Amino acid sequence: MCGIYGYIGNKNASEVIIDGLKRLDYRGYDSWGVALQNSSVIKIVKETGRLNGNIDSTLFPKSNIGIGHTRWATHGSVTQLNAHPHYSTDQSFTLAQNGIVENYQELKQQLSEKGYAFISETDTEVIVRLVEEKMKTTPDLITAIRQAFLDLKGRNTIIVLTNNDEIIAARNGSPLVVGVNETNNEIYLSSDTLSFAPYVEKMVVIDNGQMVHCVNNTVKLFDIESFKEVPYSLEAVHIKSNKVDKEGHEHFMLKEIYDTPVSLINLAKQDKASYVQLAQAIKSANKVYTIGSGTAGIAAAQTAFYLREYASINAVSLIGADAQEYYHLFTDKDLIIAPSQSGETADVLEVLEIAKKKGMKIASLVNMVGSMMTRMSDYAFMADAGPEICVMSTKVFTSQIAWGYLVSKAVTDQFEEGVQNLKNLSHMMQEYLVDQSNHHELQQLAHMLMHADDIFLMGKYQNFQIMKEGMVKLIEGTYKHAHAIPAGDLKHYAITLMEQGVPVIVTLSNDKAHADMINAINQVKAREAQVIGISPVNHEKFDFHIQVADAGETSAILNIIPLQLLAYYLAKELGNNIDKPRNIAKSVTVK
Ligand code: G6P
Repeated sequence: MCGIYGYIGNKNASEVIIDGLKRLDYRGYDSWGVALQNSSVIKIVKETGRLNGNIDSTLFPKSNIGIGHTRWATHGSVTQLNAHPHYSTDQSFTLAQNGIVENYQELKQQLSEKGYAFISETDTEVIVRLVEEKMKTTPDLITAIRQAFLDLKGRNTIIVLTNNDEIIAARNGSPLVVGVNETNNEIYLSSDTLSFAPYVEKMVVIDNGQMVHCVNNTVKLFDIESFKEVPYSLEAVHIKSNKVDKEGHEHFMLKEIYDTPVSLINLAKQDKASYVQLAQAIKSANKVYTIGSGTAGIAAAQTAFYLREYASINAVSLIGADAQEYYHLFTDKDLIIAPSQSGETADVLEVLEIAKKKGMKIASLVNMVGSMMTRMSDYAFMADAGPEICVMSTKVFTSQIAWGYLVSKAVTDQFEEGVQNLKNLSHMMQEYLVDQSNHHELQQLAHMLMHADDIFLMGKYQNFQIMKEGMVKLIEGTYKHAHAIPAGDLKHYAITLMEQGVPVIVTLSNDKAHADMINAINQVKAREAQVIGISPVNHEKFDFHIQVADAGETSAILNIIPLQLLAYYLAKELGNNIDKPRNIAKSVTVK
């Protein structure tokens, strides 16, 4: 998984591409590379590490056409040699890839036998050599690229810069969008819309199985299978401001947590009719599945909880990578709901493709405009949470679970009540966030937990998934071991880990689980664990109390805020790279 970018226009291409890659580095920041063409010569500049600070502009030739790549290493270690783009042997073209060539070993073997040499460890270079091989028998490069692309297995998107003023790109799985500025005669290609939104008026989202040929100011779209040109219409790009600004906060993570109350209000303002339609489909479905990966998988599980508990719907949550075992159970009477920040997560897309083939209806909540998931959905919702830059998802997660709650209220014909509850919740959240004493308290707690080896979190009922998400945030931000325990299951295994001073964060809301939670808290206290309670009221067994308002049936949505903030302050205390934790990426478009 990686980010790809391309530019043709009259600006200095290196500046445009570097700016674009900086906006795409949530997709991976192991290395970066830029290829520029000038007078039929292609020059590549590539480096390991993140693209930040000011790059020496003298490294780049003056050029109006080029491509760029930001890498999340899959095949081959993080070295300059493995960084993309990769040259063809005669340097007449260069190629960058987002994806994984699943049959790369087989192809590499065949190409090696034909005498091709490989200088990197990447699957990408296999594509380059395969194109070269195809060129032996085909008249032109675009035909060779198409033929090579058809031989690739897996989800891949490639972008090629030629020494003949062309950019050719092909998509099968990983995202690709083309932006057009007709006034300035510019073409942008990117893995997402946000990265070029301020500079274009219109765009075309490239579908799987399509390729584009860009030369001068023309974009031609082809169906890869038939190699026939396909007509397309350009959609207007509505995101004009590309707010990727910390707005005075030290990190995007903190800024984005502060954004959450507004994101909830944006949801509360959405059109009732679309919720009613989805509610109807949910009620008519035989079975409802919810699906997501990582944090979105937890949002999917919380959505299934709301549907079961607040709307009596037979809902089951799945994790993208593990949904395969359900494929044979999918029927055309079922519905699947996918919350996703990017709308491009490969593990989830694969399941949705199967669901579609089986005739299931698809609903999604996506934050990124123009995504594949939105395009596949029968009921497509936008999160309207604004750009989320920090790799750790915070405000979008909270929007996802708030949306799941609202959908459950629509199912029971209580949409207006749900909207009102979200507005109240937004207000409570805002009050919590602006009260600096809450931040000081969490900073103090972060200081206390700094040397802890293990942090436990325990919840039940509406709060269990929230504790799991708290665990995810702690793991991502602190690189420490955290473990979420279902409170009722404590006695069956995790109790063995309870001993003096072990930190256990609990949520104690005024709900059905209150008595069971007290029981579990007593059990860990009996082993002298240190209990940190998130609750509207203090409890005698708490060693540390984080006070939150009583948000009733939306308590879980409020409780995630102190957990996200704790992960933030702890990551800060530990000196970690908060907005870009090690080894993970925000959008995972490979399996
Ligand atoms: C990655 C990110 C997670 C995210 C997951 C799913 O693993 O690090 O934060 O939850 O992908 O992404 P999506 O775009 O589908 O929400």
